[in-house]
Amino acid sequence: MAPSRLASMAPLALGPRLRIWPPVVLAPMAGVTNYPYRKICCEFGAGLCVSEMVSSRGILDSHRGTWRLVHFGSEESPRSIQIFGNDARAMGEAARRLRDELGVDHIDVNFGCPVPKLTRKGMGAAALCDAVNSRRVVEAVVRASEPVPVTIKTRVGMDEDRITFLEAGRIAEESGCAWIALHGRTARQKYGGRARWDRICELKEAVSIPVLGNGDIFRAEDVPEKIDESGVDGVVIGRGCLGNPWLFRDLAALFAGDPVPPPPSRSEVVDVARRHFLLLREHFAGSPREAILRFRKLGCWYASGFGGAAEIRRQLQRIESAGDLEAIFEQWLAEPAPEG
Ligand SMILES: Cc1cc2nc3c(=O)[nH]c(=O)nc-3n(C[C@H](O)[C@H](O)[C@H](O)COP(=O)(O)O)c2cc1C
Repeated sequence: MAPSRLASMAPLALGPRLRIWPPVVLAPMAGVTNYPYRKICCEFGAGLCVSEMVSSRGILDSHRGTWRLVHFGSEESPRSIQIFGNDARAMGEAARRLRDELGVDHIDVNFGCPVPKLTRKGMGAAALCDAVNSRRVVEAVVRASEPVPVTIKTRVGMDEDRITFLEAGRIAEESGCAWIALHGRTARQKYGGRARWDRICELKEAVSIPVLGNGDIFRAEDVPEKIDESGVDGVVIGRGCLGNPWLFRDLAALFAGDPVPPPPSRSEVVDVARRHFLLLREHFAGSPREAILRFRKLGCWYASGFGGAAEIRRQLQRIESAGDLEAIFEQWLAEPAPEG
């Protein structure tokens, strides 16, 4: 078998200063990629960890909820944030404030969110239906954030009648973006069907800036083929790493030319889940119940390989304290590992 192109790939340039290696990015995920999870994924080998999306309007209006989302660890580097909005002035101003007040190193523009609350207002994936305005938005962000690099993350389009990814590529390229990341689905599809990597390939052939492919990467072993077929310069990992930051370890190994390590043991999974919870508790120190509420959902992802998912979900839904969670961890550890 011919060696994969992956073996000879170079670090991804993110502006003149930053080099991303491996070229594997933790996708922005609302409610998930706050500082605790970014920290874990970076430690596991992700090349870049992007914050969840934040509203440019919320930044400008000094909205407390929005500013709570933009917390970075003191050691965190690079500081990468995703913003959304469709008002060029507000997006530019928000980018400037994030650069000046938080020292962010990278700004990603969200042109992919499929949630109707945003798309109804012409934001997220719908922003690109107005090519003139979305170009203005990107130009304003690039200008205002100078010298901080800007990227775009988008979908194929709103639906099959409104395909926008090639236009997005032109806008990114002509506005001076460092790269464009494409999730190979339309907004209408949400997460249904399969991500169209052939469209990611089409974008790669159409633009000269780096293209990152996104969609349905659940195992490191699937990545060499996706890279070879599409010619992308890097990949973005979303759902595949939920409860499974080992995916970044596995990808880092592949990019280093090493074999994929064996999957984690049950006690390793519990150790990382526990650490994630403790980091959330520190992160939400001002509102201790928040970590518990978040972990009711996040915990299920860690246990997804354990079998008995319905029972685990039921148990996690009822946790009220760190003690309740610890009792569940002890139970997971005591149960025999599933066969195979
Ligand atoms: C819980 C969740 C939250 C998400 N939040 C965002 C977001 O804030 N910004 C964004 O651009 N995409 C968001 N996405 C989309 C992902 O970044 C990614 O594009 C999508 O999940 C497809 O990649 P995957 O197949 O690897 O999951 C979110 C996805 C999930 C599952």
